[in-house]
Amino acid sequence: MKPLREFVPENKRFVVAHRGSSGTAPENTLAAISEAIEAGAKMVEIDVRLTADDYVVLLHDHVLGRTTSGHGKSKELLYTDIKDLDAGGWFNEKFSNERVPLLEQALQLLRKHECYVNIEIKPPQPNENFEKRIERIVDIVDECKMLPNTLFGSFHHHSLKVLKQQYPSAHTAAINLPGDNRLPSEIAQEIHCEALVCSLRECTHKRTNDAHAHGLYMGVYTINTEQDLQHILKYDVTAIVSNYPKRIIDLLNSSH
Ligand code: G3P
Ligand code: MG
Repeated sequence: MKPLREFVPENKRFVVAHRGSSGTAPENTLAAISEAIEAGAKMVEIDVRLTADDYVVLLHDHVLGRTTSGHGKSKELLYTDIKDLDAGGWFNEKFSNERVPLLEQALQLLRKHECYVNIEIKPPQPNENFEKRIERIVDIVDECKMLPNTLFGSFHHHSLKVLKQQYPSAHTAAINLPGDNRLPSEIAQEIHCEALVCSLRECTHKRTNDAHAHGLYMGVYTINTEQDLQHILKYDVTAIVSNYPKRIIDLLNSSH
């Protein structure tokens, strides 16, 4: 598998499966990751959080209710409290055997299929030690030999700044905070990221031109329809983040 620093410059654009193929399978589960791989997504975005006993699990929300059969805050629960919960039944009963994956389980699956990963580090909760969190996450990525194939993303730019200081070879992407009107180059100057990710609504020529002029890559979320895709193809965007990777890849292939 080529390292990300070679793969990205060689590809004008590629599709990133948002929380796995989260439009067709329960988000942040191994089923959603498998569907993204089958669809041909080159990268899968996942959200991670720490449990009270420092396990790193795939979860978007800081509470369990929306996407699992459990309740409470992940940072106050042990992994043993979480590991047997149903993480797929809320989406469709046929996925009720899905569990909340550990980061290492997701990375092993992605590595086996030579798929890149975008790990989103959620903003820390009050009193959460974000430096310890970064260390745990990077240790696992490193143990799984995925560091050269991983893009770390966050709305919490300070986490990315610290991550880059501690692991200079790690790749980082700042996610634009709603209302933050700074240009990608201004953000990159501060935190030394390689990429900027913004929402479809935030994507402007001013942003993409600035990124391009400064050698930064742009990613845009969430591109789910043909209309979204036609709109975004007018911009210089490298990573197209979608809940429906198969649909977007098929549309891209048929437009050639
Ligand atoms: O990568 C962008 C996107 O994942 C950020 O928003 O809430 O879906 O994690 P969210
Ligand atoms: Mg995310």
